[in-house]
Amino acid sequence: MASGLLISLEGVDGAGKTTIARRLVRWLRGRGVEARYTREPTGGPYGRLLRRLAHGRRVDPRVEALLFAADRLYHLERVVEPLLGEGYVVVSDRYLHSSLAYQGASVGDLGWVEELNRFARRPDLGILLDVRPEVGLGRLRGRRSRFEREEFLGRVREVYLRYVDRGDLLRVDAEKPLEEVFSEVAGIVEDLLRLA
Ligand code: TYD
Repeated sequence: MASGLLISLEGVDGAGKTTIARRLVRWLRGRGVEARYTREPTGGPYGRLLRRLAHGRRVDPRVEALLFAADRLYHLERVVEPLLGEGYVVVSDRYLHSSLAYQGASVGDLGWVEELNRFARRPDLGILLDVRPEVGLGRLRGRRSRFEREEFLGRVREVYLRYVDRGDLLRVDAEKPLEEVFSEVAGIVEDLLRLA
């Protein structure tokens, strides 16, 4: 049975993950590769709960970490694993490393967040679309770019970069124009497919 590939796109808010992920899927399909876009948080029960909670009062970051981990296992079981089993290239707009970076930064205990996510398979390829938080936040019109958020995303980015140093994520400079960012991502994926 064919087994597909799981590619994750990561980065702080406003890095361009959604644009690049959707474009990557179109590009893969154009080359005859069966590909699917998916995202976290999902539209499933835990993802919907997370979105509802995000609009209300501040949630305990440990509870959020548990819910993101639950949403991920749901995502894997219901969406990702079945598609991989059918041989699809699955492009996930945020995945495991979003929890490691965001909840690692908010909870302050990366080891615990890693443990919570122990049963989530590693992506075959994880790409960090790296932008400085002030650049990412500046791109998000309609969202306030609060100092507090910028400080937090600075810590999120530091955790992401740790996974780049470890070789778990590949860093792409996403402050460059979209065309350049996309062609670099496409080049990385092309290399992966050639090997696969
Ligand atoms: P998302 O809808 O992807 O927002 P954006 O378009 O800004 O990237 O994700 C919503 C928020 O959820 C985002 O601020 C990051 C956060 N998040 C976590 O904190 N942990 C996770 O594991 C995931 C998947 C998302």
